[in-house]
Amino acid sequence: MVNWGFLSTARINGALLTGVNAIDGAEALAVASRDQRRAAAYAEQKGIARSYGDYAELLADPDVDIVYISLPNGMHVEWTRRALQAGKHVLCEKPLSRSAAEVRELFALAAERKLHLSEAFMYRHHPQTKQLKSLVDTGAIGELRLIRGNFSFNCSPDDPRMQSALEGGGLMDLGCYPVSMARLLAGEPIRASAEQVVGDGGVDIVLAGVLRFADGVIAHFDSGLVMPDRRDVEIVGSTGTLRVANPWHPTPDGFELWRDRATEPEVIPVEAANSYALQVADLCAAVRGEHEPLLGLEDALGQARTIEALYASADSGQTVLL
Ligand SMILES: NC(=O)c1ccc[n+]([C@@H]2O[C@H](COP(=O)([O-])OP(=O)(O)OC[C@H]3O[C@@H](n4cnc5c(N)ncnc54)[C@H](OP(=O)(O)O)[C@@H]3O)[C@@H](O)[C@H]2O)c1
Repeated sequence: MVNWGFLSTARINGALLTGVNAIDGAEALAVASRDQRRAAAYAEQKGIARSYGDYAELLADPDVDIVYISLPNGMHVEWTRRALQAGKHVLCEKPLSRSAAEVRELFALAAERKLHLSEAFMYRHHPQTKQLKSLVDTGAIGELRLIRGNFSFNCSPDDPRMQSALEGGGLMDLGCYPVSMARLLAGEPIRASAEQVVGDGGVDIVLAGVLRFADGVIAHFDSGLVMPDRRDVEIVGSTGTLRVANPWHPTPDGFELWRDRATEPEVIPVEAANSYALQVADLCAAVRGEHEPLLGLEDALGQARTIEALYASADSGQTVLL
């Protein structure tokens, strides 16, 4: 049995708990909160055996194998470091960090302690994402030319996402997804530029970015915390286009392949799957020594370098070379 410990009572825990409960050999053993009563009530409600009123106490529990970090973004690095120092494997919510130097430091610590660390881009585990990657790689839309994506919603003003002290921001919370998809399909960018609108909390509430890749591929995307619910991706090749209505939370409705000049799309169905359960299964298998996690140092580093470059561009008004 691989025992999971949850650092915080965050809303997103519900999705991961469903994943843990769906996987044989995984158990939600413990939860920690800043508040002991909240931790105990949460544990009782969710059927979790142990609760702690201090994150450090959960890290000291010798029976916890993997710590899931669902704290606000600005706490990810500190608590990932502390969990690794306590000898725990870590699944940290995205974004692990906006700093490439911090990502290197955390993965060096994990390697030194022979522990696994993975960034929780759950959509990467879904069969739809693998299908998209395979179609692009096998030339189903010809040569890859352009990737366009977005992710936005109207966020409550008191949410940690709206606060710079907790490293909120639309790019950190949402834009990181289209960035991740563009990198998956096109490799690592060579140049980044972005424009942002900063809100009262000091974070980007609207940001639009452009990434230039080698081989003539361009990605452009937007993210925002003061806009309606939007989430889609278009992948354009020389002979066709993939239109993905649900890139981050795929549904069996699948996605569309438009051949050049076609008047109707081919609808490509997608296997029903729970991204969160697949993510849990991936890390459990890694802990049992069966394989490396799908998402490790290379991916987290590429993400952090790109996010860092996009913010540097948005702050300076200059294109940033990577
Ligand atoms: N992969 C996905 O599908 C997905 C979806 C949503 C969010 N996320 C990521 O998951 C993380 C959590 O997001 P969420 O929306 O679930 O968070 P949330 O509901 O706002 O919860 C964050 C938790 O962190 C703890 N916390 C500690 N210090 C805090 C502070 N100063 N302010 C607020 N909370 C504090 C609180 O738990 P206690 O009071 O119990 O300690 C709180 O419940 C973020 O990094 C986000 O990017 C991922």
